[in-house]
Amino acid sequence: MLPERFLNDLKLKVDIENIISPYVNLKMRGSSLVGLCPFHSEKTPSFTVFPDTQSYYCFGCGAGGDAITFVRQIENLEYIEAVKFLAEKVGLTVPDEGGRREERIDRERIYEMNRTAARFFHEQLKRSGVALQYLEKRQLAVKTVKRFGLGYAPDSWDSLLKELRAKGYRDEEIRNAGLCVRNKNGHFYDYFRGRLMVPILDVRGRVVAFGGRVLDDSQPKYLNSPDTPVFKKSNTLFNLNNAKSQSVGRLILAEGYMDVISMSQWGFTEAVATLGTAITDAQARMLTRYSAGGEVVIAYDSDEAGQKATNKAITLLEAAGAKVRVLRLPDGKDPDEFLKKHGPERFKLVLAGSGNQIEYKLANAKARHDVESPDGKVSYLKDVVGILAATSNAIARDVYAGRAAQELGVSKESILQEVARARRAYEKRRRAEGVKAQSQRIFAVRDRINPQKAEAIKAARAEEGILCILFFSPEYLDYIEQHISEADFVTEFNRRIYHTIVEIIREGGVPDMALFGEEYSPEEMGAVAGILAKRELFVGAEEQRHAVDDFIAAIRDEKYALQPKEAGTYASEEIDSYLKNLSAKKKRNG
Ligand code: UTP
Ligand code: MN
Repeated sequence: MLPERFLNDLKLKVDIENIISPYVNLKMRGSSLVGLCPFHSEKTPSFTVFPDTQSYYCFGCGAGGDAITFVRQIENLEYIEAVKFLAEKVGLTVPDEGGRREERIDRERIYEMNRTAARFFHEQLKRSGVALQYLEKRQLAVKTVKRFGLGYAPDSWDSLLKELRAKGYRDEEIRNAGLCVRNKNGHFYDYFRGRLMVPILDVRGRVVAFGGRVLDDSQPKYLNSPDTPVFKKSNTLFNLNNAKSQSVGRLILAEGYMDVISMSQWGFTEAVATLGTAITDAQARMLTRYSAGGEVVIAYDSDEAGQKATNKAITLLEAAGAKVRVLRLPDGKDPDEFLKKHGPERFKLVLAGSGNQIEYKLANAKARHDVESPDGKVSYLKDVVGILAATSNAIARDVYAGRAAQELGVSKESILQEVARARRAYEKRRRAEGVKAQSQRIFAVRDRINPQKAEAIKAARAEEGILCILFFSPEYLDYIEQHISEADFVTEFNRRIYHTIVEIIREGGVPDMALFGEEYSPEEMGAVAGILAKRELFVGAEEQRHAVDDFIAAIRDEKYALQPKEAGTYASEEIDSYLKNLSAKKKRNG
């Protein structure tokens, strides 16, 4: 645990608005600020920052917390790293803390191990005939090998293990870093063997993982590090650390790192790639953020799998707010093959002429139908209407409707009319889906964080009301404690929050999310922020007093709501107190 003094200092110096504004475009609304949530895709802002409590909450996805939580979530950091990040920004030094020290060192050691491994692989490359031969075959220049720190994992069971053991790392640690595995008999052996090695760096330039390609046709062709404490495949984009600082106003998204490395060698240094899996929501948001208002050009293979992946990428990137274009490479080629065959000038041309995603979808639709036959024409037209209806840009709709009209020999107006009709239906459906997805998301988070809430919804709401009022008006503590105690809380999660708030008040502090500390995960902090975001419901002393009474009654009701058939399972003290409570209630109600 960090000393409370330090957390208070940090809290005083950090302004949450300054922390969040580089990531989110915030606008004033009333006494709070709103913007598009960086943690889920949305078109209307539900991400809210409350300057007075130095907290944030997204009404769309339930993300929330204080400045520390925000940094943890957006930079993908552990608690203590996020504190350091903030402390550095405001010129404070983080005091040494006891408890979590071990874990921190673990992560540092994994980074060190990865760096050592990268250096080792790179050294091995120079000595391996087969590996150098492979580089030549792929036309990879020395300059490229150096820039990406490429290497070679010898075809041996323990060459890296030996190297790391000699440097003092334990087998179990090495396994934690994803660099070796243990077989059934308890023997450890190298994870990567006989592969060309590609170090994977995070945005800050630290080696977090490796990708390895076989030198022949054996399987699997590519092998990536497993997820580790410093690496989450679904949150990482290869080469983003380099690509993000290329000021060409766009990012190119490729399928794999070999394409990225090849493009970079040919001068297209703004390329990134996912790591052998389809693009995730998190990666789409990273791309959008780092393209900084520029374009994201999807450069996947033009084979069938590539097209399917392209469609998914379009959807996720557009939802994240990116400007998307699709590169169409002829005859099933990937960027690497295309560049080798046609050179960078041709590639530049294709890149410049890469159609937007409407053109991509229209061309796809056209290829699916036989537009020479009347039936084919009609079904193609249907697709065209569907595609244009999903396009929010009116000028684009007009242009492409005109083009399709000419192609098919029908009037542009009739197409636009159909599009308008389809748009109304589409918008309605999208809104309905949006609302549904939003509530599902929030319920899903809620059930995970406070699983008991679904069964005891009334009591849980009352508990949250109490928590909210107590947080903002600690003077209620005595009154509340005269009527209920911690044990009366029906849901465990809310009881825990109550405990935390009461502890802060008892120690003479003012309730503050920054004092919740590291025992609360970012998701749990989100739930806390959600509870506190409802405080507008209880303004005014009179309302608060009534609300507190109602909440106390509701919690007690739930607590003592005995179902007759279940009565036998209650302890006699509980039944006694239930009866007492019942008679007290009767008296109160006259
Ligand atoms: P490809 O087989 O098209 O690979 O798979 P590629 O990039 O063209 O590779 P080269 O040129 O043969 O070296 C596309 C992507 O799918 C992932 C990799 O990220 C690859 O770049 N993949 C493929 C795997 O993760 N594992 C595999 O076994 C195969
Ligand atoms: Mn390839």
